[in-house]
Amino acid sequence: MADINIASATKNLSSRGFLDIDVSPQLDLFLEIERLKKEKNAIVLAHYYQEADIQDVADYIGDSLGLAQQAEKTTADLIVFAGVHFMAETAKILNPGKKVVLPDLKAGCSLADSAPGYLFKAFREKHPDHLVISYINCSAEVKALSDIICTSSNAEKIVESLPKEQKIIFAPDRNLGAYLVKKTGRDMLLWDGACMVHEIFSLEKITRLKIRYPEAKLIAHPECEEPILRLADYIGSTTALLNYTKRDSSQEYIVATEAGILHQMQLSSPEKSFIPAPPTNNCACNDCPHMKLNTLEKLYLCMEYEQPELLMDPELMYAARKPIDRMLEISAKYGL
Ligand code: 13P
Ligand code: SF4
Repeated sequence: MADINIASATKNLSSRGFLDIDVSPQLDLFLEIERLKKEKNAIVLAHYYQEADIQDVADYIGDSLGLAQQAEKTTADLIVFAGVHFMAETAKILNPGKKVVLPDLKAGCSLADSAPGYLFKAFREKHPDHLVISYINCSAEVKALSDIICTSSNAEKIVESLPKEQKIIFAPDRNLGAYLVKKTGRDMLLWDGACMVHEIFSLEKITRLKIRYPEAKLIAHPECEEPILRLADYIGSTTALLNYTKRDSSQEYIVATEAGILHQMQLSSPEKSFIPAPPTNNCACNDCPHMKLNTLEKLYLCMEYEQPELLMDPELMYAARKPIDRMLEISAKYGL
């Protein structure tokens, strides 16, 4: 165990967003994390885009909806959120009295960043007759300015739950928004945001892969751009994509979403092949740089020292909770 006290841990955190402390290489982090879970009555919630080691120690791995549902019903005293900031914020909003810690406070989201609260407020005020559906990948400020939150698992049902004549603003993802317009036939006003990971896939390289592997199915997240979605054999949230690969009879898949999901796909179907969809250049851009800020070491440290803790303004939490509750109610109604 690292030999420091909490005061110096907090100091180490201030500029970096995580506890910058050397961890002995002799330490078995898997065992230590299990010990800390029991000692602190902690739950580790992880998104599919986390590195494989983090997924392997998590109590629950899921998509944004599953993670919010788990956060809502947990009886743990300490919520350890291995994901990005907006996800940990959602867990805190649903558990204002509990401590929520995350491995790296600076694990943000390009999509959430594309809708700054003050600009979104002005946009909303320009369209007072519109109801606002916001994708969960947004800040608490934007959530507080929204009427209903949605995720990629429930977005279609949520849009369809509103009366046909209702005018709708959809934010912040223009790709998911355009996909929903096509699926539901609703003419929504879209905020012009996007995810840096899902925008980087190369149509040309995917087409070449399809020619090379003619049996492979292209499966894509709805945050991808329209030309990729048009080519896809199946479109869905991370959980939906994973479930599809379990039940479908194909042996090969080209996966157009963040590459972390391949770990669960490979674990649940070891006999199948999963090819990460290639980005436009030669970088590892289908690894989300925000999600991948979290490491097993940072996860261990945040559990040991309960830092960094997510702290939020109570009024903001109260305002942001209403649209999240609405989403959870609609999801429960449809058995999602
Ligand atoms: P889901 O896991 O809810 O499909 O969302 C994907 C994503 O981009 C999370 O940041
Ligand atoms: Fe945000 Fe995209 Fe990373 Fe998801 S993959 S956290 S939407 S930047």
